[in-house]
Amino acid sequence: MTASASSPKPAPDITHEEFLKFKEFFYRKTGINFDLSKRYFVDKRLIERIEATGTGTFRSYFVHLRLQASGEELQQLTNLMTVNETYFLREEYQFRCLVDSILPEIVSHRSVRPSTQSTIRIWCIPSSSGEEPYSVAMSLLERWSGINQWDVEIVSSDIDTSILRRARAGRYSARSVQYVPAPWLKKYFSKVGSEYQLGDDIRDAVEFTQVNLSEAAQTLNYRNFDVIFCRNLLIYFDDQSRATAAETFYEALNPGGFICLGHSESMSRISPLFKVRKFPEAIVYQKGLEAK
Ligand SMILES: C[S@@+](CC[C@H](N)C(=O)[O-])C[C@H]1O[C@@H](n2cnc3c(N)ncnc32)[C@H](O)[C@@H]1O
Repeated sequence: MTASASSPKPAPDITHEEFLKFKEFFYRKTGINFDLSKRYFVDKRLIERIEATGTGTFRSYFVHLRLQASGEELQQLTNLMTVNETYFLREEYQFRCLVDSILPEIVSHRSVRPSTQSTIRIWCIPSSSGEEPYSVAMSLLERWSGINQWDVEIVSSDIDTSILRRARAGRYSARSVQYVPAPWLKKYFSKVGSEYQLGDDIRDAVEFTQVNLSEAAQTLNYRNFDVIFCRNLLIYFDDQSRATAAETFYEALNPGGFICLGHSESMSRISPLFKVRKFPEAIVYQKGLEAK
């Protein structure tokens, strides 16, 4: 059969060498390391952007991607390449650890060494669509007695601009809220059709910002945090970008500050900068109290 004038154009091919070139470029930009097993995932998204931009071939698209001064195309592509899987109270034991072990320890150090800082600062990176930082906010309100004595700031960041828009909007599927206790669901959400809209009081408790964890210039102003949640991101990084992330976290934390990782991630394998702390609820990592 011969192709007629109206037949769709065949999808552009991406060669092995082109894949490797792209992989190296994207790794430098984001810290995300795509191995060969991700080839289908990557090709599919590259082809989608080659077609959307009308550049026609990988070669022209790659020039456009690298040279566009605004960086808009790189952002569009990054938004497509990220895996945003998350849900409320994921790895719930860490939120209990925050309330029952981490915060009491932070507060007790503050009382011994009076600090000018009267606020507890928490950084969730990556936030994805917001379920994690909002779970922190709800856990503090519902379970932490200190909430009446301490101010809390929750900053939440992600590289993906479209997922940050969804996070700010606070509208979730039934699947996303399935582990939220019924009384919390009733108190903090309203049902809109088949979805759940998070109320303004919790939405206003979290500040969302766009940050690429692998760009030192972007993390420079993120300092004086007491707790960092960095869950289910380092699995996408290689050893080098994990080590760089560990240094960023070290700089971002106050002395004695804590970092919580995802259940399959371990700071001990990444960097010697942090102490392992085994609390009854979870294993977390701590910057030394005497550190600067
Ligand atoms: C699987 S989600 C994890 C969300 C949440 N922390 C959790 O554990 O449920 C991974 C997120 O990492 C973000 N991400 C990937 N590379 C990043 C980078 N270099 N800097 C900041 N965020 C990044 C993605 O956009 C995605 O939303």
